[in-house]
Amino acid sequence: MSKNNKESQNSEIDIETPKDKSRRKLLTNTAYSAAGVGAVCAFLPFIDSMNPSDDVQALASIEVDISSIPLGEEKKVMWRGKPVFIKHRTPKEIEEAKKVPLIELKDPQEDAQRVKPGKEQWLVTIGICTHLGCVPIGGQGEYKGWFCPCHGSVYDTSARIRKGPAPTNLEIPPYEFISDNIIKIG
Ligand code: FES
Repeated sequence: MSKNNKESQNSEIDIETPKDKSRRKLLTNTAYSAAGVGAVCAFLPFIDSMNPSDDVQALASIEVDISSIPLGEEKKVMWRGKPVFIKHRTPKEIEEAKKVPLIELKDPQEDAQRVKPGKEQWLVTIGICTHLGCVPIGGQGEYKGWFCPCHGSVYDTSARIRKGPAPTNLEIPPYEFISDNIIKIG
């Protein structure tokens, strides 16, 4: 290789100065950033489509007017495809629930743990038997709470399992009192 050729090759290799290098790095970073933003923008409609629609969100929680439920009666509503019992308990039913010793319970829970403070006349439970999922009947059974006719599970006035194959108490859904007459489930 001639001397001239070598010199011309060296001048091509060294053509990028430190200033050029830093400029090139900046351009590369900018390009990557732009690509990242583009990717996020491209995914936004997809991510948005994964959010629940307004009607689905509405079903996620429901508001129920409980003012028309007579003392001693229950109202059934549907929440997220499940029946929910809202029971307006009498003082006698509350007393019955309170006096049960925890040691007698298969799934020990105080009555107070299953109602809202100061609202013990209202018991709100998911109306699905914890054995195999039948819907128990209110006011039936030995304890006048709920009775599941499928295999004979008996629940008391706090909807706690007292007899039969169901392993646990009827589930309490998340709910809150919005006012004295309105509860929000979910
Ligand atoms: S489903 Fe209720 S007792 Fe079996």
